[in-house]
Amino acid sequence: MKPIDWTNLGFEYTEADYLIRCSYKDGHWGELRATKDKYLNLHACATALQYGQEAFEGLKAIRGVDGKVRIFRMEENAKRLRSSAEALYMAPVPTNLFTDAIRLSLKLNIDYLPPYGTGASLYFRPLLIGTSPRLGVGPGSDYEFVVIASPIGEYFKGKFHTTTFIITRHVDRAAPLGTGAYKVGGNYAASFRATEPNHQQGYGTLFLDSKYHRYIDECGAANFIGIKDNTYITPRSRSILPSITNNSFMSLAVELGMRVERRHIEVSELSSFEECAACGTASIISPIGMIIDPDKGRAYDYGKEPGAWSRRLYDAILDVQHGRRADNHGWCEIADI
Ligand code: PLP
Ligand code: COI
Repeated sequence: MKPIDWTNLGFEYTEADYLIRCSYKDGHWGELRATKDKYLNLHACATALQYGQEAFEGLKAIRGVDGKVRIFRMEENAKRLRSSAEALYMAPVPTNLFTDAIRLSLKLNIDYLPPYGTGASLYFRPLLIGTSPRLGVGPGSDYEFVVIASPIGEYFKGKFHTTTFIITRHVDRAAPLGTGAYKVGGNYAASFRATEPNHQQGYGTLFLDSKYHRYIDECGAANFIGIKDNTYITPRSRSILPSITNNSFMSLAVELGMRVERRHIEVSELSSFEECAACGTASIISPIGMIIDPDKGRAYDYGKEPGAWSRRLYDAILDVQHGRRADNHGWCEIADI
């Protein structure tokens, strides 16, 4: 194994030893397999390639202050992958198969779990793809479930900082009753033509609801949070991904003494927030310094420094994940290794 500079890892793929795989054939799932080979031997007509039958997940294992390894909320990822599978008419992966695959991946790739104190973690990328060769439009009958493992670095590299977001009206990330609430690759491909030009200028992309372009919907590949008057406010929408980080923050916010509201957020309400942030597994919380609305010639300024609530929420979730704060909700599984 090549030495890894844990403190300089980013959110890029670093190869670990094993891929975990499981095939669905003739109506049932087979045994888990571990392969060193990271390539999939896929038919060119596989429904994943032809018709986008592909869904994925993302979750972390973290080395704690006590030396124990914690896997964060993996049953929730299993549940969400099942719902994504159903949305794309794919064979759902049973929760116990999912969690066994993560445990096996952790065990076999344990050398790639970053040490405590580096801010880095071992990231799992479960993937579900349709493998049946089909030319006619329709779902396949065969599927492959794969768990990729890669160590990833601390998103903020020591300095917790803010990002600027641009409100986008010329591209919709997802239709009102489309696949926005599912973690399917097609959603990301469909948003690149909006997000990439912004990204190249160092900005994130704020999507509005696609029916009225009136409410805040999704924050690039993250959920939106607005904070004012000790209240944590996050959009209620059928076209955003139900973020596990956001769900965790809603509980932690209450523990920290905030009120929590899940409701529509009109664009005009942005001017009343004291803090705004994006949240997701990779960055955890990404404070927003400014939101620019180019179509309306407006900018909402939240300051260059992350707000106090964003910092408290960030610290609280990191403390749970690292065993420094009581895990009151049973979010962490202590790995048996
Ligand atoms: N929204 C989108 C579109 C995402 O891709 C993600 C990342 O997974 C999130 C929100 C945040 O979800 P989670 O907190 O479960 O990682
Ligand atoms: C996240 O984990 O926060 C994400 O945004 C997922 C993305 C890397 C696909």
